Amino acid sequence: MILLDDIRRPVEDRLAAYEEFVGRHFTAEGELLSEMLRHALSSRGKGVRSLLVMLSAGMNAAVPAAAEGRRPALAALLVEMIHLASLVHDDVIDEADTRRGRPSANALWQSHKAVLLGDYILARAMNLGLASAQFDLVTHVCGTITALCEGEVLQDDLAGRHTMTREAYLDIVRKKTACLLGVSASAGALAVGAPRERVAAMRCFGEALGMAFQMQDDILDYTREAQTGKPANNDLREGKVTLPLLLVLDRVSEERRTELLGRLAQCRDDEAAVEYLHRTVVGEGGLELAAEVMRHYVTRAVGQLADYPDTPYRKSLADLCAYVAERDR
Ligand code: FPP
Ligand code: MG
Repeated sequence: MILLDDIRRPVEDRLAAYEEFVGRHFTAEGELLSEMLRHALSSRGKGVRSLLVMLSAGMNAAVPAAAEGRRPALAALLVEMIHLASLVHDDVIDEADTRRGRPSANALWQSHKAVLLGDYILARAMNLGLASAQFDLVTHVCGTITALCEGEVLQDDLAGRHTMTREAYLDIVRKKTACLLGVSASAGALAVGAPRERVAAMRCFGEALGMAFQMQDDILDYTREAQTGKPANNDLREGKVTLPLLLVLDRVSEERRTELLGRLAQCRDDEAAVEYLHRTVVGEGGLELAAEVMRHYVTRAVGQLADYPDTPYRKSLADLCAYVAERDR
């Protein structure tokens, strides 16, 4: 089994320096905001985005010293904080009480304060980026904020109307998740002065990895145990048609499709409907079909590494692809 700790090894020191950079610079004014920010920072999770920045910086640096300057740490901070702010807001939108097994900011301080916390995290990251005058990095990374918002609005709109197509699903995943992972990988290359083609290749790598990452997340929502921090079937309860259900809907008759979508509309407050749809998706092979699509993106990501020499960074990026496909949480 591939472990994230092993994947991190080639950039362990850089990640430790990055954490120190965050601790030193990412602080808030006032007691309450400081407490809220500390809570958000300590709920950051696996740190896949900052890891991607550092591995890509290491792999793309023409001279090793280039990967040790402040630019990769700044890029990592920007992508991580955009991600963190988006999750704080997402929990407000989803009315989620927990995030990674801990109370969400909205559960602890109510939604209005959680919205402000998300705004503050975003604003603080922008300020740090602009104050550093690394405008190319700030421009490169911050372009993803609009994509995140577009993806979220599209998802919400389609969940409300109970319509979803394969194209719309892929568009949402690209905007909601893949875009920021693509920018994490490409920002690492940009931070160390890699040529334009390499920055573009890293973006394709990260985007394909991001597509696979979100698809695995959508699969895990059907299989995850409650004690891992999040109840299974969350997406069904929120009325979301994600890949496993989408692929089942694509295969059944029009009549059955209408029936299943009718059940989905009841899922918000009817556990029997949730159970029924869960059983249907599993029984119709939706999870295997979704895993097949997910593996297609993993293969696409790995393909982007082919032109790079065999280094510990490249190995870790390839292992990250395998990890995404295998992970169970
Ligand atoms: C998690 O999705 C949500 C996202 C990846 C993006 C959310 C984006 C916004 C709320 C737009 C606002 C953006 C900023 C920068 C403030 P999910 O609900 O499918 O996953 P989950 O199970 O982790 O909640
Ligand atoms: Mg959510």
